[in-house]
Parts: sequence; C-alpha cells; structure tokens
Amino acid sequence: MATLHAAYALLSLAPLLVVSDPPVVYTQPEQVHLSYPGVPGSMVVTWTTFNSTDSLVEYSPWGGRLFDESAQGSATLFVDSGSEKRKMYIHRVTLSDLKPGSRYVYHCGSEMGWSDMFWFKPLDHTSTSPSFALYGDLGNENPQSLARLQKETQTGILDAILHIGDFAYDMHEDNARVGDEFMRQIQSIAAYVPYMTCPGNHEATYNFSNYRNRFSMPGQSESLWYSWNIGPAHIISLSTEVYFYLEYGQELLFRQYEWLKRDLEEANKPESRAARPWIITMGHRPMYCSDDDQDDCTTFDSFIRRGRNDTKPPAPGLEDLFYLHGVDLELWAHEHTYERLWPVYGDKVYNGSTEDPYTNPKAPVHIITGSAGCRERTDKFNPNPKDWSAFRSTDYGYTHMQVVNRTHVYLGQVSDDQSGKVIDSIWIVKEKHGYDAWL
Ligand SMILES: [Fe+2]
Repeated sequence: MATLHAAYALLSLAPLLVVSDPPVVYTQPEQVHLSYPGVPGSMVVTWTTFNSTDSLVEYSPWGGRLFDESAQGSATLFVDSGSEKRKMYIHRVTLSDLKPGSRYVYHCGSEMGWSDMFWFKPLDHTSTSPSFALYGDLGNENPQSLARLQKETQTGILDAILHIGDFAYDMHEDNARVGDEFMRQIQSIAAYVPYMTCPGNHEATYNFSNYRNRFSMPGQSESLWYSWNIGPAHIISLSTEVYFYLEYGQELLFRQYEWLKRDLEEANKPESRAARPWIITMGHRPMYCSDDDQDDCTTFDSFIRRGRNDTKPPAPGLEDLFYLHGVDLELWAHEHTYERLWPVYGDKVYNGSTEDPYTNPKAPVHIITGSAGCRERTDKFNPNPKDWSAFRSTDYGYTHMQVVNRTHVYLGQVSDDQSGKVIDSIWIVKEKHGYDAWL
C-alpha cells in the first residue's frame, strides 16, 4: 500500500515535473544566430547550450563536400539574475577567410550534439548595394512581421537585419525563458543573415545582462555601442538607454559620447568618407516623434536630442554631435509606429528643395520604425504633428533599406497589415556628404 501511495504521490507530482527546462544534461545547441564582427570575410556564430560543451562550427562552400572546414571558439557561462539563477552557456565561434559572394552551409555544436544545417552569404564589405531589413520592438507574443521576415530572409534578398532595440518583451522574464524562446523564434532569420542589434529599454533589467550576454556585436562594449562598414556605408549602433538608466553608471553615457565623437571623427577623415560616404546611425529611442504618449521624443527637450542638465557634469545630447559630423540618416524605434521625418535639425525642417526634399537635404533624415509587432500592440499618433513629420503609419511592419551607391539610398516601409504592400518610400540623394553638405 505504501508503494501505491508513493506511486500516486509521484503521479500527482508529474505535471510539476514537466516544465520547460531541459533535462539535467542537455548539450543540444539552440538559439543559433549570426553577427558580423566588422572584419571583412568573417562571421560570428553564436548559440546556447544548457550544459558545458565544446564550441565548434563545421562549414563548407555551398555545393562542396559538406563540413570540410571547421572552426573552434569558446563558451561563456551566463547566469541569469532571476530567482532560479538559471545557467546557460553562450558559444561564440568566429569564421574567417570567407569568400564574399559564395554561399556557405554550416552547423554548430560539438560531438555532444549538432544544430540543424543553415546557410549564409559572407558579407561583402565592398558590396556596392547592400540591402537591409530594419525594425525595433519585436516580441515573442504578436510578432506580426516575423513570418514575412522569415520568408524574405530565406529567399536571400537581405544582406543583414538591424534590430533597433526591444526584444522578446522581455528577455529576463520567467527566469530568462522568454529570452530563450525569443532567440529560438528568431533563429529562422538570424541563423541566415547577420542580426545586428542595439539595446532598448526592454533589455534594462539586471543591467541589460540578457542583452549583453546573448548577442555578439563588434567592439569591446558588450554590444552596447559599436560601428561597422558595409559597402558605401558606415553604420553606428548606440545605446540610447545610457541617458535613462543612470543607476547602471552615469559614466557609460559619457564613455559612449566620447566613443561616438572619436568614431565620427575617424569616419569623417577624407579617406574614410571617400570610401564610405554614408554615415547611418541606429539607436532605440528617437530624438523626435509625434506619438500620442509622453515619451522622451515628444518633448522639445528630449534627453537624446538635447542631453541632460541634471547630471554632473551636464550630459550632451546627440543632435549637435550628429549634425556637426554630417550623419546622413538616423534610424530609431521605440514608438510602435512608423514615422518618416523631413530633414530636420533644431526642430526645424531643412528640405533639399520643395520639389525634392530628400535630394541634397540640409539636415539629417530620421526614420522611426518600431512596429514589427509585440504584446504591447501599436501606438497612437498625436493628431497635430509638427512640421517635420512627413509620413506616419500605425500598420505593423518593417523597413527596407538599400544603400544603392555613393549617392543614393532607398527606404521603403513594408506594411504587414496590407500583405507586404510598400506604403511609403523615399530616395535620399546626396551628391555631397559631411557637414559641408548642409551649407
Ligand atoms: Fe522601447
């Protein structure tokens, strides 16, 4: 009878035992994603296991003998700060000497378990016309644009994806299981093209530790800020969150600002700007927006735009820095809408001309694209936008960007609500780049 009772007791516990955690020994790789480390001919493969294993990638050119080449990397132990202190191993392997233009197949893992097989095209840093999808604010629930992005990515039309902050909603939740689920969900895109990121406010918990540990962006700032080159573009990724989470270190704000200044000076050296005339920034919270909320970008004294006076010393904003260094295009998210701005500086519109506002504009162009889809749904607009607001949409969707050549950039907004219809598009045409272009 005692045995029977014990059996019943076990049975009644059974539902509790079936949780989403992997078994005690779990060495199967998952959450595979790519990033570009900024070195031509290279690619970083990042993935997760829940027990310690080697970190190997086996790969080969498409059509060749499978897995002829292999590369080894290393794993770091990430202990989430939630109550369960869940552990995971984040593996990073850098592939080098890849030949641009040819497609590679790969899998990752170790002799204790291999991933599915994926493919990618090495980024051709000399590519004349790189294509991107960009968006922010994509979550696990209601990720409305994801299916379209999966299909587009796998058809091979994108060179890279820029995710402009706010992931998963939120990665730390349920002891970081929401982060795991998000990374599994985006594997269908991020295992095929470099998935380049910047942090948003939804990553802030435990000092952005899920973000800092799970992604592998170039540079030494734990993916918080960095820059990279592709074709005729220099792309700068930054953390707008350093202006808001001073509890994690006010010095971060100043360190980033100094880094941005140096990076922009370097990118503006005549030889740099001649090779890469387009300077494009991406950061989560915009300087300007016309949403019907109380966000920073709705205020004239936006922290991002004008800085903060309540810090010691006062913290400089980004608008003057970007303007003075001739940033051409600024990509933002956070507002769960799409908004295109006329060229703007100091709250004033500086169109190239009345007929062709984006031909030789006299100030940077801003795009806000935060409507990929998440549990918070889309936002509403203020009914009376300011003069700099050129086009607005509350449809779910994302943005296509192609840096076509030294003088032309294309931007188009894809509405997922309207079955992929391009609801807004512009060409930015610039014969001249840099601060002098404004004059
Ligand atoms: Fe946000």
